[in-house]
Amino acid sequence: MTDSYVVSIDQGTTSTRCIVFDRRGNLVSVAQREHQQHFPRPGWVEHDALEIWRNVGKVVPRALAEAGIVAGQVAAIGIANQRESTVVWDRHTGVPVAPAIIWQDTRTDELVETLARAPGAEDLRQRCGLPLATYFSGPKLRWLLDQTPGLYERAERGEVLFGTMESWLIWNLTGGPDGGLHLTDVTNASRTMLMDLRTLGWHPDSLAFFGIPVAMLPGIRSSSEVYGTATAVLPGVRIAAALGDQQAALFGQTCFAPGDAKCTYGTGSFLLLNTGAEPVHSRHGLLTTVGYQIGGEPAVYALEGSIAITGSLVQWFRDQLELISTAPEIETLARTVDDNGGCYIVPAFSGLFAPHWRSEARGVIVGLTSYITKGHLARAVLEATGWQTREVVDAMNADSGLELTSLRVDGGMTANNLLMQFVADVLAVPVVRPMAAETVSLGAAYAAGLAVGYWPDLEGLRSNWHLAARWVPKMDDAIRAEERENWQRAVERTFGWIKP
Ligand code: G3P
Repeated sequence: MTDSYVVSIDQGTTSTRCIVFDRRGNLVSVAQREHQQHFPRPGWVEHDALEIWRNVGKVVPRALAEAGIVAGQVAAIGIANQRESTVVWDRHTGVPVAPAIIWQDTRTDELVETLARAPGAEDLRQRCGLPLATYFSGPKLRWLLDQTPGLYERAERGEVLFGTMESWLIWNLTGGPDGGLHLTDVTNASRTMLMDLRTLGWHPDSLAFFGIPVAMLPGIRSSSEVYGTATAVLPGVRIAAALGDQQAALFGQTCFAPGDAKCTYGTGSFLLLNTGAEPVHSRHGLLTTVGYQIGGEPAVYALEGSIAITGSLVQWFRDQLELISTAPEIETLARTVDDNGGCYIVPAFSGLFAPHWRSEARGVIVGLTSYITKGHLARAVLEATGWQTREVVDAMNADSGLELTSLRVDGGMTANNLLMQFVADVLAVPVVRPMAAETVSLGAAYAAGLAVGYWPDLEGLRSNWHLAARWVPKMDDAIRAEERENWQRAVERTFGWIKP
């Protein structure tokens, strides 16, 4: 019998990747392509959805060629994607009506302020588990409907369709204008503000709150089931999973039990805690979200601490300040000094996400003296990621009433040993990283493989998790307490910078 494989497509913020996995969850091949980031105005971030679709058409055949396999050997396709980013396209031509508005985009800040004061705002929050913020798709979609002449009427007539990236890709993979399937999954739908967390359906009051016609919305399905068969890129192969990338990482880290948590360190960082079959509402600034749903089984919920700026602070240090020429150099530079020299950087570049949700905050560097070198600044850059992780872990412990005992990590920044040691130090719990570093793609592959019987059950997947690295806390308690207080004082300096 010829071996078969599962293919995952990870459509991320900066690139699109295709990875081929074998039955043991091993990475067989990978192909990746970056797409352009457009910043047409301060605070605006856009992508060209057609460029992203073209990139899918390039990376998938490349990954298969590198693996030396053909479409007939692919048991299923799973998709993981950047969440919240909003695409609206013409049903008949397949052409987007505007550039995709990306999750980091803050153009809706005034709209969000207005909506936050509107009747029904508190009910909305209870239903969707999210605070009103520029981050989510609902305000972005409302903005597009307001700003594009005639779009609302076309949406009412079902002539244009809304989707986050997985919907856009599934529609194109299954025929586009010629009968493409217009679907999303529960994890992505849970980031729109339009879905009721309990019924897992679009809620009419939420649609009315934002003024969004139901005719333009995709059908909501589980994260792991056969949605349909691809007619493009991998014709004949079943598309069997879709998850928001952070939920995919939760799945790829096999965080299947309540209390399991992971943090993915990328451009931003996202800590998700499995809370089981009931949505837990946060009282400490976390998001309530769907972790995953396997076929007809009950959904599994998660609490999420979203941090907007972590890896992108290192990029800023490299590209805007030009103090290093490659991202890994930050570790070398930070190691030229023993500590931060009293300097703290709070990267509130587009406000602060969890647990503060302050859109008017802007970044600060505090504690500058003539003693400070670029080495101290490099340390402060890395420490900002550690302290922001600590803030969301504190919120999680307070919300769940449980103390986190260790943290599973993944993502590009986990290659930085100094940073991972610092995270363990400030959390005062061990930090562990699995052998399989590509947890986002692996999670999408797992969910697709489960749906088609390629893998039998969750238990089998758990046995694929193998420890690669472990960092144990070494920081003195008194130093941790003092540094934490300094960080908190620095955070307070960011509040209220943008005047109402
Ligand atoms: O919510 C935003 C998140 O899904 C983005 O993840 O890895 O594409 O930057 P990433």
